[in-house]
Amino acid sequence: MKNILVTGGAGFIGSAFVRHMVSSYPEYNIVCYDKLTYAGNIDNLLPVSDEENYRFERGDVADRKTVERVLNRYAIDTIVNFAAESHVDRSILDPDAFIHTDVVGAYILLDEGRKHGIGRFCQVSTDEVYGDIEEGLSKEDDRFLPNSPYAASKAGGELMVRAYHVTYGMDTVITRGSNTYGPYQYPEKLIPFFATEALDDRPLPVYGDGKQIRDWLYVDDHARGVDRLLHAGKSGEAYNLAGENQRHNIDVTRRILQVLGKPESLIRYVPDREGHDRRYAMTAEKARALGWRREYEFDRGLEATVNWYMDNEWWWRKIKTGEYLEFYQRQYAARLAASSL
Ligand code: NAD
Ligand code: TYD
Repeated sequence: MKNILVTGGAGFIGSAFVRHMVSSYPEYNIVCYDKLTYAGNIDNLLPVSDEENYRFERGDVADRKTVERVLNRYAIDTIVNFAAESHVDRSILDPDAFIHTDVVGAYILLDEGRKHGIGRFCQVSTDEVYGDIEEGLSKEDDRFLPNSPYAASKAGGELMVRAYHVTYGMDTVITRGSNTYGPYQYPEKLIPFFATEALDDRPLPVYGDGKQIRDWLYVDDHARGVDRLLHAGKSGEAYNLAGENQRHNIDVTRRILQVLGKPESLIRYVPDREGHDRRYAMTAEKARALGWRREYEFDRGLEATVNWYMDNEWWWRKIKTGEYLEFYQRQYAARLAASSL
């Protein structure tokens, strides 16, 4: 491993991974390849922009010609694929881009990677491929039951990775992370959305009864997990990166308000997300056996995250304009109008 292509490296988790890899492995060259969609943000990479072992290339993972050019230009031997459309609500409004990036993009990267003779291909995936799990913990061999267009696209990408391993003998590894939170997360996902809205004393739209359960993983733990599995994961295998911090959405919401010293009267119960999965929960046993452990307890991670949004308005205020406001209208206007306290 010497020249690593990190796709989607200008996004939330991808940029944490790039920052981690650039500083931890001065002997590696880290090339970030990103289309810079609404969710991609070059500000996320400012901490490494002057480092010698870091390069940025703008491009689409589904654009074969550009992928080929970049693989050749940097003699890439390893690909870590974070690039994705990643927001469930947007996948319900408009699934097209999800198929393009999460399915076709994964395929193009695998296919060009194979032709180029790369070594390891690491696919960053999600616990959402398992779908709703009423009780117990999802294990790596459990069946896929994705419920949203986002989850189905990620499952499709994973299946293509499996096929390239079995059919062409490609060296692959798949990571399945749980709901991730931390600094630099686009403020449409639950925690950064609610933290930034609450800072402005705006209503927090909780879907349904707020009793849905998510398992929360701090972003730096996720990035270290991908590093560990990239280096130590067995070829052809998938590994859960579970936070093992299960929380009800409403409790997460209350905790955000507590950290900010804001009143619970900001909470609004709004009509539920369509096809909303009630609960995600995984075991991290398999990744733990390779030496990975999450370090952040939820309370510590949440406080650090909310404080970061409090201290870094320069980062998120400029995002909450233009297209963001259009999405907000489509997603929340009618819901908030139909809300209850
Ligand atoms: P994000 O939306 O913050 O970032 C996605 C990045 O991919 C952006 O920089 C965007 O510009 C880039 N991108 C999108 N389409 C592209 C394309 N066609 N070509 C090149 N680049 C493109 O997402 P994130 O939260 O950082 O998630 C990263 C990965 O981790 C995704 O694959 C996601 O499925 C997975 N994941 C996320 C979570 C989570 O809770 N956020 C949990 C588990 C797994
Ligand atoms: P989200 O951050 O979108 O992640 P995911 O859908 O991938 O789990 O949502 C986390 C949980 O919070 C999910 O159960 C949906 C819920 N949620 C709300 O109740 N209101 C909101 O405005 C958002 C964005 C999410």
